[in-house]
Amino acid sequence: MDDGSPAYAPLALDWDTEAVAERRRRFLSPALATFIGYDDPVVWQRGSGQYVWDNHGRRHLDCMAQNVCISVGHAHPGVLAAAREQMEQLPHVTTAYHHPQPGHFAEELIATLPEGQDWVAHFVNSGAEAVDLAVLIARAHTQSFELLALRDAYHGMHYGAQTATGIGQARQLVPPAPGYVQVMGPHPYRGPFGPDAQPYLEELERVLHTNTCGAVAGFIAEPIQGYGGIVELPEGYLRGAAEQVRAAGGLLIVDEVQTGFARTGSHFWGFEAHDVVPDVIVMSKGIGNGFPIAAVVTRREVAEGMAARMFFNTYGSNPTCCAAGRAVLRAIADEGLQANAAHVGGLILDGLRTLQTAYPRLGDVRGRGLLIGAEIVADPATRRADAAGAERVQLALLARGVVAGLCGREHNVVKINPPLCVTTEDAAGLLRAMDEALAAL
Ligand SMILES: Cc1ncc(COP(=O)(O)O)c(C=O)c1O
Repeated sequence: MDDGSPAYAPLALDWDTEAVAERRRRFLSPALATFIGYDDPVVWQRGSGQYVWDNHGRRHLDCMAQNVCISVGHAHPGVLAAAREQMEQLPHVTTAYHHPQPGHFAEELIATLPEGQDWVAHFVNSGAEAVDLAVLIARAHTQSFELLALRDAYHGMHYGAQTATGIGQARQLVPPAPGYVQVMGPHPYRGPFGPDAQPYLEELERVLHTNTCGAVAGFIAEPIQGYGGIVELPEGYLRGAAEQVRAAGGLLIVDEVQTGFARTGSHFWGFEAHDVVPDVIVMSKGIGNGFPIAAVVTRREVAEGMAARMFFNTYGSNPTCCAAGRAVLRAIADEGLQANAAHVGGLILDGLRTLQTAYPRLGDVRGRGLLIGAEIVADPATRRADAAGAERVQLALLARGVVAGLCGREHNVVKINPPLCVTTEDAAGLLRAMDEALAAL
């Protein structure tokens, strides 16, 4: 280097697949080492836009966007430039000091939310942290304790978030965090009360009267359940739930970790499709395009419930992550990514519905924008879930250069949520791969 600073050699990396898998087994906690997307290890080496390349140089369309984190594209040049500039100046300023990035980011984030509210943002590091903070805020504000959450919801793995999560496998063998009450959630395809909102609202009312003291801190829900199987709340449910919960003194907390940041295409935020303004909004994943940041946004008067006490994270408001987040917002706006999510997502949904006519074991196709689920069943008449079949489809897609996930209570829903910059050509390639994968079932 000509500025006199020492040259640093790149850190050594062993890219051999077996070596990567072995180090993971050997040195990472078993809880992490066994959380894998594919039984046969796949090693990702580089990414650009909607694609990732493995360590053999093979390109894949990343329809999982690294667990919905890559919103505007892998290695997005605008995000990298913003983060690099901040890192070169000062990578971290802890929450107790002043720096302009968090304030700018909060201002720009709040500009995406419905007007007429005095919104404020609280930055943390991950979705589960944000969920736990949102619940704490609701409890501090309402001075009530009980928190309603939906079955099959996924809200993260921390102690409280884990209990809000209505997926048994996400629970550890310890007593759950106190105060969480699970409610039967609507499901358009599998719901025991049918596809419409009303019977589930009646169930919510029953739960409020039988399983709570009648005064609650809030109700948390994803507008479209992500890991629960891409289950969109039916029209009127979120608004009706908000009315009931507010009448019981509680707040509506919306978890936008998967649905936010224009992914649903029709709207910037998932809740906007439901004609209701939440009291508390949880954001993560796509907010940072791969940089670890999350946020809870609420009204000032609600957040004030916690102001007399201390709550901060050392890395919350980290300026590098905030710079990345600002660049994400800029990219969504400048590159028309919300409209693209609506357009390309619509093509994928239409194409999958066409495939359904040829392949009845594609039992249901659902979602919005670029948050899509394709449910594989053993028998369309009984709708019996076929997890093994879904896994075969997932592997057939991988063999054709498409990364997809599996979700749903029965693990039989193929999850498709690529970065928002995915193109119509990518959609056509994905549908071809899906056609072949289903034919092979
Ligand atoms: C809807 C939703 N909420 C919360 C979380 C938790 O986020 P994190 O894994 O960053 O803690 C997730 C993670 O997948 C999620 O999908």
